[in-house]
Amino acid sequence: MQKLRILVVYYSRSGTTRRIAEALSSALDGSLEEVLEARNRSGILGYWRSLVEARSKRPSDILPARNDPSDFDLVVVGTPVWAWSVSSPIRAYLSANKQRLPAIAFFCTMGGRGSDTAFAQMQEIAGKAPRATCALAARETAPDTRKLRLSAFTDALRA
Ligand SMILES: Cc1cc2nc3c(=O)[nH]c(=O)nc-3n(C[C@H](O)[C@H](O)[C@H](O)COP(=O)(O)O)c2cc1C
Repeated sequence: MQKLRILVVYYSRSGTTRRIAEALSSALDGSLEEVLEARNRSGILGYWRSLVEARSKRPSDILPARNDPSDFDLVVVGTPVWAWSVSSPIRAYLSANKQRLPAIAFFCTMGGRGSDTAFAQMQEIAGKAPRATCALAARETAPDTRKLRLSAFTDALRA
């Protein structure tokens, strides 16, 4: 059987989504791509800008992607939840690449609430349904506690 070509794409402001994306790409033996922005989003101003962009459904300015998603069989897209919504950099990534996306799957990290609306927004922007989704609250992101959830997700993706 031919190996599935998998790309894990993520945005992370403070590192949590990055750690999950790294664990997923390693478990799936996939490639990893971070969505990058020209503008700094740290600190309280960055926090407020993130909130405003998410609430107003505004995509942010992102740098060109390194990988062409159409070179892969499956693209797994990860976002932090901002104001019960997809983050503005991932909104921008999905809008820019929607014509080139193969099969997709979504994951998110969050304090505890908002994954359903964030995933619904991602599906609407991408124009297609994800093969599987995985939402991790803060208390579920530590290496030991995330293990079961992530293996259920990767099993669903390989099926
Ligand atoms: C602007 C902003 C808005 C947020 N809104 C939510 C929210 O609506 N629900 C929630 O559970 N967590 C919310 N969070 C918490 C983040 O989703 C959570 O800390 C996430 O794991 C951060 O991922 P990152 O470290 O990859 O940036 C918010 C964080 C930020 C910065």
